[in-house]
Amino acid sequence: MATVAGSALVSPSEFPTLEREGLVYLDAAATSQTPRAVLAAMDDYYRHHRASVHRGVYAIASEATDLFEGARARIAAFAGSQAATTVFTRNATEALNLVARGVAGPGDKVVVTEMEHHSNLVPWQMTGAEILWAPLDEQGRLRLDALDELLSSGDVKAVAVAHVSNVVGTINPVAEIARRARAAGALSVVDGSQAVPQLPVDVGAIGADFYAWTGHKAYGPTGIGVLHGRPEALEALPPLFGGGHMIARVAKGGTRFAEVPTRFEAGTSAIAEAIGLGAAVDFLSGLGMEAVRAHEQDVTAYALERLREVEGLRIHGPADPAQRGALVSFALEGIHPHDVAEIIGSRGVCVRAGHHCAQVLMDALGEQATTRASFSVHSTRAEVDALLDGLARVQEVFA
Ligand SMILES: Cc1ncc(COP(=O)(O)O)c(C=O)c1O
Repeated sequence: MATVAGSALVSPSEFPTLEREGLVYLDAAATSQTPRAVLAAMDDYYRHHRASVHRGVYAIASEATDLFEGARARIAAFAGSQAATTVFTRNATEALNLVARGVAGPGDKVVVTEMEHHSNLVPWQMTGAEILWAPLDEQGRLRLDALDELLSSGDVKAVAVAHVSNVVGTINPVAEIARRARAAGALSVVDGSQAVPQLPVDVGAIGADFYAWTGHKAYGPTGIGVLHGRPEALEALPPLFGGGHMIARVAKGGTRFAEVPTRFEAGTSAIAEAIGLGAAVDFLSGLGMEAVRAHEQDVTAYALERLREVEGLRIHGPADPAQRGALVSFALEGIHPHDVAEIIGSRGVCVRAGHHCAQVLMDALGEQATTRASFSVHSTRAEVDALLDGLARVQEVFA
């Protein structure tokens, strides 16, 4: 699907929330809007097939199971993985906790990049492992030479890295990082939360041991996340939660766990949410991820160009739009990002202000907080203009 320069790739009318008068939603990196097809898929489950999955022998139970497992298969294929190695979790955070708890502990060393979201940072700290910080260059790009140096000790257990930063937008060369980690005997754990909604992602080609992402940023519902793993890595990972469904046999003497991925999915699954996420990846596949990327890169490049015109505005992250995802974080000299977001927000333009759950990165950038505008398939250059008009108003107020 080709984008006409300046127009949206998908009409805002496909997203019911965007029908609200005067809304300019530039916060897709926090959570995306929900397409009608996703709402319809969840509604269909609740109205016509509501039953628990995997257990019942009656018609609606097998229909629900088919919808749920069908969604898993399509989600896996969309990301270049297989159903058998695709685990449903509550969100990316839960997926990353599952991995961190399973692979690291006191006495281990784990490399974490300075650009990680707290989701791919705090769980590693909580394991008691020693954290080695992989630093960034002046444009917020990972320094691969420094990563090599950290790996050179040969005793690093895991490397935790975001595919796309939620603050500086950097697209990391995750296949290369996974290769270097493996060569050094370390596992690689990629947080793809920001990547899956906007880039063609092929988990198989990336070759990381674990790849986690979250449904609600990828046009799916809240409450569903995904963990893909290499078969051997998942096989070696202990489950984090015990309970129903995740077992093969329970006896007084102990429990034998079910096969992967079931052993990681204790309790009743987020059935409607998985079905909704299945519809979300169908929505993205229908657009084509190359087209999604091309559209969002165009809007991002335009935003970078326009924001560079604003006096006293610092932009963080790579200067080249080809090296960054569809977001721009910035700081306006002398004006708190919360004031910026509030004044712009009062004009209907929704942007995020704060530390973006990346306080180590804020420290590295020398900022307390930034304002972030992020773009999506429904974003347009005209919406970037609305952001710039809002910034002009902010500067008037604080002049
Ligand atoms: C890069 C990144 N990783 C992880 C997360 C966490 O996602 P969730 O809260 O859905 O687990 C986010 C969400 O803000 C993110 O931007």
